[in-house]
Amino acid sequence: MIDLTGKTAIVTGGARGIGKAIVLRLAGAGADVAVSDIDLAGAEAVAAEVQAMGRKSLAMKGDVSKLAEAEALIEGTLAAWGHLDILVNNAGITRDGLLVRMEEAQWDSVIAVNLKGTFNGVKAAARVMMKQHAGKIINIASVVGVMGNAGQANYAASKAGVIGLTKSAAKELGGRNIQVNAVAPGYIETDMTKDLPQSARESFLTLIPLKRPGTAQDVADIVLFLASPLADYVTGQVLHADGGMVM
Ligand code: NAI
Repeated sequence: MIDLTGKTAIVTGGARGIGKAIVLRLAGAGADVAVSDIDLAGAEAVAAEVQAMGRKSLAMKGDVSKLAEAEALIEGTLAAWGHLDILVNNAGITRDGLLVRMEEAQWDSVIAVNLKGTFNGVKAAARVMMKQHAGKIINIASVVGVMGNAGQANYAASKAGVIGLTKSAAKELGGRNIQVNAVAPGYIETDMTKDLPQSARESFLTLIPLKRPGTAQDVADIVLFLASPLADYVTGQVLHADGGMVM
């Protein structure tokens, strides 16, 4: 049984989907959890669920693509709770399109949120965790960052970047007892994937040995493991939550 009582965590993009499941999973294990999102009302609703579980929570509006907002998020949590033990960089977007038709804005926005947003979170949290000589950072990547995907060159590049960033940060921060890992979800049923055409859904399913799409809970379970003392000797890794899609 994983017990995170007394630990504090921040989850970006925590208002819904995988982020929300991670918030509730960490709180269920006893952590106090700050919920950050561009959707403040959504973050507040999730924070209220955490409080109803008897844990402390904060809801903060923040755009991960802006370094100043990432820093304000970390500082706000620190001011409230005095320490930061776990950061989950989960916020992410898609702006799909075939490469030759992809607009510059589609490329820039996905890189800004998914890749720079993760950098901003890691950078802001690392300063605090280095002083603490302890901390766990978990970045949500994607199997698409490993295998590529037609129509998602921007997204695949951003998530491959997240994997490279995770490994580099693990090497830089390991000496301060900070573990940095990534989770690479496969095909997970959330708002992000609900508009996929049936044909794309079926072709994903043919690639999954476990023969079902993943749930947000499947991803949250792996994040909980990486956030816990059970993973104290794990860093720089990419754990796939993908039903065996990539192996
Ligand atoms: P979602 O679209 O349901 O939720 C994303 C959340 O992030 C939303 O609450 C949104 O308001 C927030 N957000 C968006 N831009 C933001 C920004 N600039 N700053 C702060 N918050 C922002 O997505 P889902 O499916 O829950 O995905 C969560 C993470 O998991 C993303 O990083 C995504 O790329 C990744 N992922 C999802 C997969 C899937 O099949 N659903 C597969 C692989 C990875």
